[in-house]
Amino acid sequence: MIKLEHLSKSFTDGASEIHALHDVSLEIGPGQIFGVVGASGAGKSTLIRCVNRLETPDCGRVWVDDEEITALEGKDLRRARRKIGMIFQQFNLLSQRTASENIAYPLELAGVQKTEREKRVRELLSLVGLEEKARAYPAQLSGGQKQRVGIARALANNPKVLLSDEATSALDPGTTESILSLLKDLNQRLGLTILLITHQMEVVKNICDHAGLLEDGRLVESGAISDLIADPSSRLSRAFFPPPAGLRADALAVQAVITFLGDAAEKPILAGLVRQFDVDVNILGGNIQQIGGKRVGQLQVEFKGGQTQAALAYLRDLGLRVEVYQ
Ligand SMILES: Nc1ncnc2c1ncn2[C@@H]1O[C@H](COP(=O)(O)OP(=O)(O)OP(=O)(O)O)[C@@H](O)[C@H]1O
Ligand SMILES: [Mg+2]
Repeated sequence: MIKLEHLSKSFTDGASEIHALHDVSLEIGPGQIFGVVGASGAGKSTLIRCVNRLETPDCGRVWVDDEEITALEGKDLRRARRKIGMIFQQFNLLSQRTASENIAYPLELAGVQKTEREKRVRELLSLVGLEEKARAYPAQLSGGQKQRVGIARALANNPKVLLSDEATSALDPGTTESILSLLKDLNQRLGLTILLITHQMEVVKNICDHAGLLEDGRLVESGAISDLIADPSSRLSRAFFPPPAGLRADALAVQAVITFLGDAAEKPILAGLVRQFDVDVNILGGNIQQIGGKRVGQLQVEFKGGQTQAALAYLRDLGLRVEVYQ
């Protein structure tokens, strides 16, 4: 649904040149929710703005729904942009217009007739659960309600793709949660493909099925969340699982976090381990969370005994993610 091929973009800032994007290639399939994370200045906004051509790359190509966005200008570009909605951290609503009038705005630009427009606005208000606020002005709405208006406006022309640049960063945790579940719901009900930028790992864990890490304009990691979790060298997945508090070095014991994906969570692996290797296993803690729609279990354990290293190697051979804290 979205394809970026060898995208580069530089800005000149006085005498110096800033490489905001450097040879970024990426494919996002229909119906995916793809999260882009990275430090401030990594090039996230530039990347997303290249997708709807708010920014034009220096080189490389962008396709959305089989149409090459980078080859279009003028009227053709405006038409293609209707397939791409966008939401923002600061909502970007028109303060002189009511919620309904904000949502109607892109329909007016697209030349939709008044009765059809009013019908569509009613549908959109109900889609985002904001029927009661139709006549309210932005100043009379909460942050979460403003973002719902932003989402309805972004969806007015039935886009196939929604771009989100830190859409939940200005919201409190509860409101963030409700906006994320609305996005997930829209993704499932409308088959909407979502490309979102966030600095909150919780957002990626909560709704994304794919993710990528941008660093100094380069895409240094990307893939399905389940593949990233299974790969112990993945920096993104290390960020999903910050080291648990309370694990500490001990001369006699090795403390480790074992991560189980999907079915592996059901198997009695530790019992087999104790039988097969001469080790003592103490369970210090554990949890099961949903990440990228998958069940992921984690156990914090302490191993004591001569064959600890062999036992850890055995767990890794089973395909489990094992992180040792010594
Ligand atoms: N219009 C511009 N003119 C000059 N430099 C720019 C412009 N837009 C972006 N940059 C620079 O390009 C780099 C990438 O910026 P970008 O806004 O894409 O980062 P970001 O990852 O979105 O950061 P943040 O998390 O702070 O929003 C930064 O060094 C930024 O200063
Ligand atoms: Mg940004």
